[in-house]
Amino acid sequence: MQTASELSTVGHDLFKILGTNHVEFFVGNARQSAYYYRRAFGFELVAYRGPETGHRETASYCLRQDKINFILTTPLHANHTANEFLVKHGDGVKDIALTVENATEAFAITTSRGAKPVYEPYTIEDEFGSVTLSAVATYGDVIHTFVEKKNYTGIFLPGFKETPKDTLSKSVGLKYVDHIVGNMDWNQMENMVNFYNDVFGFTRFVSFDDKDISTEYSALRSTVVANENKWIKFPINEPAQGMKKSQIEEYVQFNGGAGVQHIAMESEDIISTIIALRNNGVDFIKTPDAYYDDLLSRVGEIDEQIATLRELGILVDRDDKGYMLQLFTRPVEDRPTLFFEIIQRKGGESFGKGNFKALFEAIEREQASRGNL
Ligand code: FE2
Repeated sequence: MQTASELSTVGHDLFKILGTNHVEFFVGNARQSAYYYRRAFGFELVAYRGPETGHRETASYCLRQDKINFILTTPLHANHTANEFLVKHGDGVKDIALTVENATEAFAITTSRGAKPVYEPYTIEDEFGSVTLSAVATYGDVIHTFVEKKNYTGIFLPGFKETPKDTLSKSVGLKYVDHIVGNMDWNQMENMVNFYNDVFGFTRFVSFDDKDISTEYSALRSTVVANENKWIKFPINEPAQGMKKSQIEEYVQFNGGAGVQHIAMESEDIISTIIALRNNGVDFIKTPDAYYDDLLSRVGEIDEQIATLRELGILVDRDDKGYMLQLFTRPVEDRPTLFFEIIQRKGGESFGKGNFKALFEAIEREQASRGNL
């Protein structure tokens, strides 16, 4: 088996990936989900595909905030295969679609190296040009669609029609996808890390987190794989034995197997973004007050006022490159599965592993202050 340092020196993208094109969710009622993401998360409805545009199988809403595209899709008939996904997993991420230079090449390379084919390359077109798509499977029932759109100038993809200006939504300042995390079942992390290494040429992203796997506090193990320019970063989690039941095990039970746990979105100003999201009714995990007591001694000087971070519950983590601020929403549905992370990087390249221990210790301090430790 390769070590982390070997993996990080041998890898390069096996085909050119330009970024995350979109994330598609299968949901029970896309019209209502779209309202939630528009009003709560500040996404703008920009395009639609459904019966009114001549597409009779599904209804899809294309939501956008800066470089982030979410597609919400609902099957319109009981015999559509998307229903199997919904019964098994509930609403969740079906497709992490990557923008590539050449979707035919991406499909040929990945399938020749062991990826399971989902869609052979095919080209669709409308008055704005043509797009070539193909897809392969990854963990659980999640797929990667390869999107080649260099010959396309339309709003999203052929078949989607631009919608009238969205007067319901107001941006909360989200810019782009920083990372997308997959939860695996027990002892499946290394297999999936090797899959991304073998099939995509992704390498182990060496970061602060790598040296500090605090399973004692978090009951999970995590390895981050990234593409060559680091625009695509996929942390891969698996449950571990810890002081409490692993949150990854809980996810896997309720999701019916592996799937996307969270999507981290970068904000250029996390304080104003969290204020806007809280005003819109988004629920975040509760940060114990005691977390802020030793924050400065843990992360050193930062630009933000501690009082402001405390009031908003924002977390901070530092590595040797700088620091980052982050906060996690509660699961956005009734199954304890998918949630979101808001992140602002100020040089820091970590994923917040230091916060597991800090949060754990803060909870213990509060417990001690009540005389219960
Ligand atoms: Fe994250």
